[in-house]
Amino acid sequence: MTYTSRLDLSDHVRKEACGLLQARLSDALDLEAQAKQAHWNVKGPHFLQLHELFDRLHGEIEDFVDLLAERITTLGHVADGRIATTAANSTLYGYPLEASGGEAHLKALAGSLGAFGKAAREGIDQATLAGDADTADLFTQISRETDKQLWFLEAHLQAH
Ligand SMILES: [Fe+2]
Repeated sequence: MTYTSRLDLSDHVRKEACGLLQARLSDALDLEAQAKQAHWNVKGPHFLQLHELFDRLHGEIEDFVDLLAERITTLGHVADGRIATTAANSTLYGYPLEASGGEAHLKALAGSLGAFGKAAREGIDQATLAGDADTADLFTQISRETDKQLWFLEAHLQAH
């Protein structure tokens, strides 16, 4: 479904941009759940620090979800945040249920965050090519923040 708008981008440009945004929305919703999975289940001597770090990461990803979904609705399309859509369309690897210690959760989340950042960065050029510089800017914002969050995770893995 598409809504009409006074927004000056053509239907074609909006459709292309929303396809890119929806793909990353499904990834981001999956990633958000993965961060909570780590927040709840991490064990070990650094429990409290990692428990809190993973919840902060969840908060950042929640912001990505809102940015992506609301750009879709701004462009007159329907943001699909349904669990079934997320499960069917996320391009991220499934989170390992057996992850227990801090390092296992850090590595699992870093893998997902790295893949998400790569896809978001690819979205910059794809949105530019599609003719929507604002969606490209949104992907720039998201990929830059994803890089920073990846640093926060990887700094724990680079100490030795
Ligand atoms: Fe909590």
